[in-house]
Amino acid sequence: MNTHTLPAFGLGTFRLKDQQVIDSVTTGLELGYRHIDTAQIYGNEAEVGQAIADSGVARDELFVTTKVWTENLGRDKLIPSLKESLQKLRMEQVDLALIHWPSPNDELPVADYLQALAEAKQQGLARAIGISNFTVAHMQQAIAAIGAAEIATNQVEIHPFLQNRKVVEFARANGIHLTAYMPLAYGKVMQDATLLEIAAKHGVSAAQVALAWSLQQGFTVIPSSTRRENLAANLEAVKIRLSDAEMSAIATLERGERLANPGFAPKWD
Ligand SMILES: NC(=O)c1ccc[n+]([C@@H]2O[C@H](COP(=O)([O-])OP(=O)(O)OC[C@H]3O[C@@H](n4cnc5c(N)ncnc54)[C@H](OP(=O)(O)O)[C@@H]3O)[C@@H](O)[C@H]2O)c1
Repeated sequence: MNTHTLPAFGLGTFRLKDQQVIDSVTTGLELGYRHIDTAQIYGNEAEVGQAIADSGVARDELFVTTKVWTENLGRDKLIPSLKESLQKLRMEQVDLALIHWPSPNDELPVADYLQALAEAKQQGLARAIGISNFTVAHMQQAIAAIGAAEIATNQVEIHPFLQNRKVVEFARANGIHLTAYMPLAYGKVMQDATLLEIAAKHGVSAAQVALAWSLQQGFTVIPSSTRRENLAANLEAVKIRLSDAEMSAIATLERGERLANPGFAPKWD
C-alpha cells in the first residue's frame, strides 16, 4: 500500500476560470475545503494560486493537486512544465502531481513519463505522484515502471451512472487509491429518481447521496461548484451513512454513461 493519504474531500476546478475560479476557491477555503484539484490544461493555476495566497490559509494545511498535460509528457518537457505550474500556483511544491491522461495513442511509453514524474518528486516538486484516466492496461504498465506504492491515486470518472468497476477492482487489488472525478455526473445525479428517493429518506439532496456513495466506497471525491450553498452542502455529505440496501440500489444505476471522453482517450475497460 502506498503511504500518501489523500484527503477524502476536495474541490474541483475544471471549466472555472478568472474571477469564477477565484470566487469558488475562496469560498471553498472559507467553508473548510483544504484540498484543491487543478490542472495545467484548466488554465486556472495562477488564479487558484492567487485565491490560496489571499485566503491566509497556511500552506501546510492545504493539499493541492495539479496534472501534467499530454503535451508535456516528454522527458524534456515534464519537469519544466511542473516548475511553471508551481510558479503560477505560487508554491514550491504541490502535494500531488498527476499524469492527466495516458500519452495519446501511447505515442510515449508509460515508463518514460512516469519515471520523469518520479524524478520530479525526487527533486521536491511534488510530495506525491499519481495517474489519471489510466485503464487497467495502463495501470499495469505504471506498476511495472515505478511500483504501486509510488502511485498515490488513479483519478478517474466515477459516479452512479459510470461505476468503472474493472478499474476499481484492479486498483483495489493492487492497493491503488481511487479519486472519483465528476462525482455528480456534472449535475445529472440531481434528476435521478432512485437517488432522489434515497435523498428524501435522509432529508438530503441527490448530490449529497451521490457523494456519500463514492465516499463510502473509499474514493476521494472532488466535486466542483460555483455556488456557496452547493459547496457547503457537498461537504456535509461526509456525515451521511447509506444502508447496504441503498448502496445496492445505487449499484443498479450503472449505464456506462461516460462524460469525459475526448478523442485522444485510451481504449476504455
Ligand atoms: N482527471 C480528469 O481528467 C478530470 C476530468 C473531469 C473532471 N475532473 C475533476 O473533477 C472535478 C469535478 O468534476 P466536474 O466539475 O466536471 O463535475 P461535477 O463535480 O460532477 O459536477 C459539477 C456540476 O454540478 C453542479 N453542482 C455541484 N454541487 C451541486 C449540488 N450540491 N447540487 C446541485 N448541483 C450541484 C455544479 O453546478 P453549480 O456550479 O451551479 O453548483 C456543476 O454544474 C473537476 O472540477 C475537476 O477538478 C478531472
